Amino acid sequence: MESALPAAGFLYWVGAGTVAYLALRISYLLFTAFQAWGLGHEPGFGPALGEWAVVTGSTDGIGKSYAEELAEHGMKVVLISRSQDKLNQVSSEIREKFKVETKTIAVDFVSEDIYDKIKTSLAGLNIGVLVNNVGVAYEYPEYFLEIPDLDNTIKKLITVNILSVCKMTQLVLPGMVKRSKGVILNISSFSGMFPVPLLTIYSATKAFVDFFSQCIHEEYKSNGIFVQSVLPFYVATKLAKIRKTSLQIPSAETYVKLALKTVGLKPRTNGYPIHSLLGSIFSVLPSWLYFKIIMNSNKSVRARYLKKAKKN
Ligand SMILES: NC(=O)c1ccc[n+]([C@@H]2O[C@H](COP(=O)([O-])OP(=O)(O)OC[C@H]3O[C@@H](n4cnc5c(N)ncnc54)[C@H](OP(=O)(O)O)[C@@H]3O)[C@@H](O)[C@H]2O)c1
Repeated sequence: MESALPAAGFLYWVGAGTVAYLALRISYLLFTAFQAWGLGHEPGFGPALGEWAVVTGSTDGIGKSYAEELAEHGMKVVLISRSQDKLNQVSSEIREKFKVETKTIAVDFVSEDIYDKIKTSLAGLNIGVLVNNVGVAYEYPEYFLEIPDLDNTIKKLITVNILSVCKMTQLVLPGMVKRSKGVILNISSFSGMFPVPLLTIYSATKAFVDFFSQCIHEEYKSNGIFVQSVLPFYVATKLAKIRKTSLQIPSAETYVKLALKTVGLKPRTNGYPIHSLLGSIFSVLPSWLYFKIIMNSNKSVRARYLKKAKKN
């Protein structure tokens, strides 16, 4: 009986400490969410940073929405994607709707020799915002060794998801540093925040983007540069193969409107309140439970995909 009492006291303090820790985490989460999405504040971006915004992968999905939102805030936009037809279409939509100048650069980020062309096209532009959005993923969740055309997939994901972020930053950051202002938004992913087996290469490339962004932010914030790592969960786009929106899966327009509210406030964000809540829940799960949930979920998506592919 005597020896049980100190043990009970110890457990009491462990319990009280855990509750206090969780209460502090939740309060902090609510405070930062309210600060970004609840309070009206001046946007952390706009032509005052430099009249041009550059968006990679800007003819669809999240990138197109960034281009439109930045144009709505008065920025001229450089659109970069593969297809000149799609670029012309989005470019004329933006010019008509928002009455701003646009420029297009048709390149395939799978190639490594495109950066001289991009550099020449961007020469002389006063760039205030760079959105490193372009990214590619797998057709379906798959075990590493079973990924179709593994050699090319490795190269493609590394070149598009990683090299583009480094090279575009290398091209645009010097001008920002010279003018002591600028914003760089790097679109990582929830799967860059937490490891996602069966999407291993994608997840690892997005972790690179997250670390790269955090490091560059620390290196250049004293030069007036704000770098943000954006870590979305599902957004209804072609890449996600999701058309139907829900509270948990916003449209690209809704997602980007809310994500842009965090610019200047949060160097690392899930960009959308429900995604931030999910991030907080996942971050307190024990890793065995987290991996069990993710593996089971990705295994069932894989099975459904393969079954459907076999039928066709
Ligand atoms: N959607 C999601 O649920 C989600 C979640 C987390 C993170 N993300 C990230 O968000 C970013 C945007 O994804 P999204 O869902 O908006 O994708 P999306 O709808 O598939 O749009 C991709 C855009 O990139 C362009 N693009 C694709 N491959 C390209 C290449 N090799 N070279 C040049 N341009 C290329 C496409 O235009 P063209 O085909 O005309 O070239 C298109 O404009 C990606 O980095 C992705 O990893 C998305």
